[in-house]
Amino acid sequence: MTPMETVRIGIIGGGLMGRELAAVCGRWLHLVDHPVKPEVVAVADLNEDALNWFKRVPTVTTLTADWHDLVNDRDIDVLYIAVPHNLHEEIYLAAAASGKDFLGEKPFGIDLAAAIAITDAVVKSSTFVRVSSELPFYPGAQRCFEIARSGALGELVDVRSGFSHSSDLDRNKGINWKRRQATCGEIGVMGDLGMHVAHVPLRLGWVPSDVYALLDNIVTERPSPTGPADCDTWDNALLAMRTPAEAGRDFTMLWETRRIAPGQMNTWYFEALGMDSGVRFSTRTPATYQHFVVRDGQQIWEEIQPGNISAWPVISGAIFEFGFADALLQMWASYLAERAGALGDRFGTATAQEALTAHRVFDAALRSSQTRTAITL
Ligand SMILES: NC(=O)c1ccc[n+]([C@@H]2O[C@H](COP(=O)([O-])OP(=O)(O)OC[C@H]3O[C@@H](n4cnc5c(N)ncnc54)[C@H](O)[C@@H]3O)[C@@H](O)[C@H]2O)c1
Repeated sequence: MTPMETVRIGIIGGGLMGRELAAVCGRWLHLVDHPVKPEVVAVADLNEDALNWFKRVPTVTTLTADWHDLVNDRDIDVLYIAVPHNLHEEIYLAAAASGKDFLGEKPFGIDLAAAIAITDAVVKSSTFVRVSSELPFYPGAQRCFEIARSGALGELVDVRSGFSHSSDLDRNKGINWKRRQATCGEIGVMGDLGMHVAHVPLRLGWVPSDVYALLDNIVTERPSPTGPADCDTWDNALLAMRTPAEAGRDFTMLWETRRIAPGQMNTWYFEALGMDSGVRFSTRTPATYQHFVVRDGQQIWEEIQPGNISAWPVISGAIFEFGFADALLQMWASYLAERAGALGDRFGTATAQEALTAHRVFDAALRSSQTRTAITL
């Protein structure tokens, strides 16, 4: 076995997701024969407490308040940029201009104009850039993707892809950057959860042509240290879409993103139905996926336990349960293997082009909601 090349990673934005990456690198031994070994060596964050957390990571040698230090650091191979959405464009453009490879958090720019500018810059640069979306790496989701990609579904009838949680059900939860248009974006919940929902359909080539959107802002005010503050982002978004199929007939596709879905903790799901067969997977029942078949004239939903068979092989037992942290590990394994030219035909992390297409859909959804009409993309 050849020795693994070390990839030095700088994190810009050491919050919730930045810490997750440090933990992912700490358990890289789970992967079998991965071509590289990532190490977080530097972190940039304005918040001192956030920086201090990384003092427990033995490979980190640089802690700074200025993200430019990481963009300009020749000893850093890859950046992970996980900052509020209003900062995506400036930092992603700077990373591309300096020739740094990066994994950018979704939604990849605060709005469509930012996503276009970032994607143009990435295309013109020689940088290897992908966009964060880890939930399709669940084994059950992978099996559904493979069945759909094989063509076994037959003529497509209906596709549904959604992500719902309820962390905003509590009206007394304080305001934060994700609940303000200025920092989260006018697209609101679609910026927060939409890329997760778009990744699998877009990877299957299912690009909608028309969008009709129902957007809902349920909680319009939240507590802040200085009193009630405007909470002006969309909480929930339901997008009904016409989607052209290869067969020439359009099929229906629904993308659902909700921050207020009573009863849902953090549910990502994907369902695709065709005339011959169907698949569905939900993180609510993460150990199983369902496969629809017609056998001897009977319509049957079979439940299958895929086991811990992930896109990149792991040392864990094939019967052990898979969870969110495993999905993140798989996404990073995929990103770094693809960067090293070693991904093969395994599932790839979302591309800049997919993020841009998702933004086009979200932008159309805003216009649909304003005009109460369907918008052609
Ligand atoms: N892939 C996922 O499952 C997932 C989950 C949550 C969030 N996200 C995305 O990750 C990104 C960050 O979200 P989060 O939940 O980690 O947010 P967070 O608020 O927990 O962390 C963001 C960090 O950025 C820092 N920051 C702000 N301005 C900065 C600047 N100028 N320079 C350096 N650091 C700065 C903040 O101090 C904070 O520590 C967003 O794009 C979000 O949509 C992805």
